[in-house]
Amino acid sequence: MSASSPARPIRKVAIIGASGKLGQYMVQHCLDRGWEVVGVCREESVSKLDRFAGRITVHPGMTNDRAVIREAVKGCDGVLVVLAPWGVQQYSSGTAQAVLDFAEPDARLVFSCGWHITMDGEDRYSLAFRLFVSFFGFIGWLTRFAELSDQVEATNRVFASDRRWTVVRGSDLEEGESEGLPVWSHHVHDPILASNLTRRIDFAAFMVHALTDDGLIGEAPAIVSCQSASARAYRPRLAG
Ligand SMILES: NC(=O)c1ccc[n+]([C@@H]2O[C@H](COP(=O)([O-])OP(=O)(O)OC[C@H]3O[C@@H](n4cnc5c(N)ncnc54)[C@H](OP(=O)(O)O)[C@@H]3O)[C@@H](O)[C@H]2O)c1
Repeated sequence: MSASSPARPIRKVAIIGASGKLGQYMVQHCLDRGWEVVGVCREESVSKLDRFAGRITVHPGMTNDRAVIREAVKGCDGVLVVLAPWGVQQYSSGTAQAVLDFAEPDARLVFSCGWHITMDGEDRYSLAFRLFVSFFGFIGWLTRFAELSDQVEATNRVFASDRRWTVVRGSDLEEGESEGLPVWSHHVHDPILASNLTRRIDFAAFMVHALTDDGLIGEAPAIVSCQSASARAYRPRLAG
């Protein structure tokens, strides 16, 4: 089924990477909406979801394990995917591909990543940002700790698919109480994003919100806190 298919109401959601910080917030947001939740996380991380015991179904396994994903996404109206670049095992692209292959035909698919991902190549980055990404990418590759290029591969596969997808690009993150749903822009260099900071709980809320916002299908919103200085300064201008 293609991106133009009629919207499917959300009743059951799979969260791929549910035990992480972002994942746990997304679990809570989905339960708050009264949705049935299925989580996938590594075997050793299942206990991180203990506080949700009896309220969610957990499928232990690596998120790029195709058999685990195939089972977890069955019957789900939405799939929230934490794309993590850890290790050198095609973790992000394997995860994304499994979701693209096995999610229900008309399910809403929402993937997380950072600002370094660009959909159309039109994002303009500061020198400091580019140096940081290059440094982290090199050190990650050298130590075999992380493979940033595989996260790029993962999102490229999503961008090329005809699924009902959204790729949410997070700014720098911090912990704390919710400040409200983040604002977003198509491009990282938009001044509304200059503050480059979002509460993780609100990043999660935006991911969950995207499941029911069909205006975000086929978009890669770059987000920032709605309470940040740049959002406050530029929102009125954009609204006008
Ligand atoms: N951190 C930031 O500043 C930042 C900024 C912008 C965007 N983002 C994006 O936000 C999303 C969540 O990032 P986060 O930093 O908030 O982290 P997080 O939610 O804690 O998520 C990390 C995920 O990676 C898994 N993981 C950790 N170590 C692993 C390993 N060695 N092998 C396999 N899986 C492993 C975790 O599972 P376990 O529970 O099993 O450990 C968890 O599912 C990512 O898509 C990231 O690109 C992050």
